[in-house]
This record gives sequence, C-alpha cells and structure tokens, in this order.
Amino acid sequence: MPKFEPFMPKIVDPEGVEASTAARPMNHSNDESRAATATETGGSPMIDFEGTSNPYIDYQSIDLLLSLQHPRSEGYDEMCFFVMGQVKELLFRGLHFELVNAQMQIRNDEVGNALQILSRSTAFVKYLADTWDVLSTITTEGFNQFRDHLGTASGQLSFMYRHVEFVLGNKSRRLAEAHRNVPHVWPAMLEALETPSLCDDVNALLARQGMSIDSAVLERDWSLPYEANLSVENAWRHIFETTSANDEMHRLGQALVSLDQEFSIYRWRHFTTVERIIGYKPGTGGSAGVGWLEHVTKHHFFPEIWATSN
Ligand code: HEM
Repeated sequence: MPKFEPFMPKIVDPEGVEASTAARPMNHSNDESRAATATETGGSPMIDFEGTSNPYIDYQSIDLLLSLQHPRSEGYDEMCFFVMGQVKELLFRGLHFELVNAQMQIRNDEVGNALQILSRSTAFVKYLADTWDVLSTITTEGFNQFRDHLGTASGQLSFMYRHVEFVLGNKSRRLAEAHRNVPHVWPAMLEALETPSLCDDVNALLARQGMSIDSAVLERDWSLPYEANLSVENAWRHIFETTSANDEMHRLGQALVSLDQEFSIYRWRHFTTVERIIGYKPGTGGSAGVGWLEHVTKHHFFPEIWATSN
C-alpha cells in the first residue's frame, strides 16, 4: 500500500511567483476604510484587485509558500510526508518565537507575561505532537517507495528544531556543528549554543527571588549540556511547599513542567511512529534510528521540577 500513483494537481504557475524572501508592500486598512469598502461592495466580498496579485496572497507570500512542495518520487505517501515536514518546520518556528519571548520576559522579572506566553508554547507543542496522527498513516511500504530519495536527509538536521531544543536548554555542540557549513544558518545556531537558555534564565530568576542557587549553575559554560542541580531542586521544593497554587512562581514551575511533559509526549509519539514505519532499520541521518529516538524520550528540560515529586 499504496499501489496507486499520485496525481499532482497544479495550483500555482511558478513562473508568476515573486520569489523574494522580503515582505511584500501592502496597504493598511482601518475601521473607516473597511466600512467604506463594505458600502462600495454592498456587503459582498471584494473581487477586483489591481496588478497581478491580491492582498491575501501578498500578506504571507502564499503563492511562494504553495510553490515549495516538490515530492521527488512516484510514491503516493511522499506528498503527505513533504507537507507535514514543512508544517512542522513552521510550528517549530512559531514555538521558538514564543519560547525566546518567554525567556526575555523572565529575564525582565515579568513572570505574569511569561506565564501567558508559556501557555501558548505548550499549546504549540501539543499541536506538534498531533502531527504524528497524520504521519502515522504512512505505511512501511508507502515510506519505502520514497525513502531512498531522502539520501542522508534527516529531521535531525532541522536547524529550527535544534533552536527549539537549545532555547529550552538541551545543548549539544556536536549536533549544532552539523550546520557549520551553512553560512546563513550557522551564526544564529552558534549564538543559541553559547548563550543562556530559558532554563538558565529561570535559574537566574530563582536566585534574584532570594533562593540560594549554586554559583556553578549561575555562571557556567552555556554551551555544555545542563546538569540537574540540588540547589535548584530545593528552590522549587520550597516554592511548591510554601506558596499557594496561585502564586506566580508556583504557577511558573507548573507551567514549565507541563511544557516539558508535552515535549516528552511529542518525542514519544515520534519514536512510536518511527518504530511503526521503519522498525529497527538505521535512520537516514546516520543514527541507529529508533534506538536513538527512544533514548531522547528520556530527556527533561527542567529535571529539578520533576524531582520535587520524589
Ligand atoms: C514519518 C516518517 C519519519 C521517520 C521514519 C523518521 C525517522 C527518524 C529517525 C530514524 C531519526 C533519528 C535520526 C536519524 O538517523 O535520522 C529521526 C530524528 C528526527 N526526526 Fe524524524 N522521522 C520521520 C518524520 C519526521 C518529520 C516529518 C519530522 C519533522 C521535521 C521529523 C523530525 C525529526 C527530528 C527533529 C529528529 C531529531 C530528533 C532529536 O534530535 O532529538 N521526523 N527521525
């Protein structure tokens, strides 16, 4: 399955697409102009536009976005894999934006703002986990019809995913260095590796709140993998035991562990989807495949908060 061949509907003529990555010029509207337009159209949607595009297309360069789906095989399932890969990259992008901003709010002691952002971040991770519902419909036979066309391409090389892992605190110089030959990606990757993560900023916040946090946590080589620390665990234990569930720091601890838990579910669902599709064959990216994914399911970004339940 599937034995049938894909039929690829033609949606956009690539010849007409403006391929620049820059934002396209657009007009603004306001309450008055929208009311005037509705009067002019008699309440029906506009259908006449100047030039060779329309404002919906231009706002998000939709014609360009929808010209980037190029399955490389005759395998029916490749289009699903291709589109879901792109969808996931966009979701990683959205999640990363939220996490960086949560980190900035924490750095400015704006815990309430960070809580608001973290609730959206967790919604993003849940949404990402649900992408495995669609990808799980790819069968072993369907995957094998296009797998060879992936060459050595692997999700492990997703720089956007790596940024998500790094902002949360799961640093790895080795995995970052897979991007050192890509000049338009490497500087931001290196910076993310070598600067504090959200986890590091949360620990600095605990210290500013008067908790006794080891200096080895507060001044460290940010590029090294984070190691759980007892002073951080004691700080969270103190917060959970002495404050009400409405307290901002209490809610922050719970919000971080919820995010962490959803991320574990995302990893677990990747692992089981892959086990179902390729079993124990090696991955395309040089790893031992499913064994590698199983190993990473055990990772926690905020190990000390998990430890407070022991
Ligand atoms: C549905 C078919 C899929 C299979 C069979 C699969 C398989 C694998 C395997 C075996 C690995 C381990 C590394 C390697 O050697 O390649 C891996 C890692 C990874 N895959 Fe997938 N994958 C699939 C879909 C996806 C999709 C659609 C994405 C989205 C971008 C993705 C993102 C990743 C990421 C980010 C990693 C690295 C994980 C980490 O560093 O912890 N995978 N995948």
